[in-house]
Amino acid sequence: MAEKTPIFVIGATGYIGGSVLSRFLSHPSANTFDFTALVRSEEKAKKLEQFGVHSVIGSYKDTTLVEKLAENAHLVLSLADADDLPAIQAILKGLRQRHAKLGDLPILIHTSGTGILTEGQETKGMAATDVIYDDSDFEQIANIKPTALHRDVDNAIFEADKQGYARTYIILPSTIYGIEKNLLVDAGIQNPFSVQIPMLIKASLARGRAGMVGKGLPFWPDVHIDDVADLYIILYDAIITKGPENVDHGVRGYYFGENGEHTWYDISKGIGEAMVALDLTNDPEPTTFTDEELEKHFGSVDDGNYSGTNSRARATHSRSLGWKPKYTTQDMIASIKPEVEANLKQKQTQQ
Ligand SMILES: NC(=O)c1ccc[n+]([C@@H]2O[C@H](COP(=O)([O-])OP(=O)(O)OC[C@H]3O[C@@H](n4cnc5c(N)ncnc54)[C@H](OP(=O)(O)O)[C@@H]3O)[C@@H](O)[C@H]2O)c1
Repeated sequence: MAEKTPIFVIGATGYIGGSVLSRFLSHPSANTFDFTALVRSEEKAKKLEQFGVHSVIGSYKDTTLVEKLAENAHLVLSLADADDLPAIQAILKGLRQRHAKLGDLPILIHTSGTGILTEGQETKGMAATDVIYDDSDFEQIANIKPTALHRDVDNAIFEADKQGYARTYIILPSTIYGIEKNLLVDAGIQNPFSVQIPMLIKASLARGRAGMVGKGLPFWPDVHIDDVADLYIILYDAIITKGPENVDHGVRGYYFGENGEHTWYDISKGIGEAMVALDLTNDPEPTTFTDEELEKHFGSVDDGNYSGTNSRARATHSRSLGWKPKYTTQDMIASIKPEVEANLKQKQTQQ
């Protein structure tokens, strides 16, 4: 029997990570994959074994462990954190060692995000930009500042590809939405919820009325979790069928995840309408969060103002791989009410 492909997964229990792993588990070549996941929870690690995923219990803060696990893998799926530089450096060190020892050219698929396009903005919800980034415009992408969100990690990854000891690809999802349903969610392994919209919902429910940053005028792209998971598989399949050299990689290896865009106001209005439908308020019209509210619900005023930035992206490069996202911005708006209901249910079970 041919040797199996060792795959190291970081973030298997997460919203993106679990969704991607579940797709890999049902991939036509699944019986040729040998998964190892780094997991913090002992209970989830045990459950993952039932799906044929070996689990190592630990944190990606343990860089020695991460380095070793990366060295053992031909493919690393980095699905946990777009911002942890020491963790990515440990992965890259492991891949460099693998290359030096075995002559293998390992593959890294990492998760960043279109938050990278919010660099230097002080919009606070008050202005839409007409600057749109296209992932197939390599010059525009190369000019993103090193100080941009996630970019320090992405730059370290570009450098590894340039040095030639790994082939690297970066997926940048935007506002991911949809409550994920799959076998890992059913088994209680995976977080089925996203971040941005649920955070606005939580804050809105707490104040009894939909809230927004400023007037909610800036734009962000959106993408359904199923389409995001598809993108990882389509990228992986392209790398395998065409060969790693023949799929844009390194500095040319940015792949956005978007299938439409919305304003922040659109989301908040959707939350307001869901709250009216659920008898939680009389007025669907969102009002502006005060600084005190931003601090209370988002951790700090700066973190809160992130929901008032522009991030405008076109995923031409991702589509050129054959990616055909199915869900649209209308689906995103329709996903808000079930998300509000899920949030209420969670609150009830926590009481
Ligand atoms: N969701 C979005 O809309 C979106 C869009 C673009 C980019 N992103 C980025 O993608 C990344 C993943 O997002 P997500 O929505 O999937 O988040 P998530 O559901 O919170 O998943 C995070 C994953 O990372 C794991 N993790 C966290 N700290 C760890 C540690 N110290 N050691 C080992 N594992 C650790 C978590 O494990 P536990 O189960 O143990 O917590 C979980 O598996 C984030 O960097 C996020 O900024 C997200």
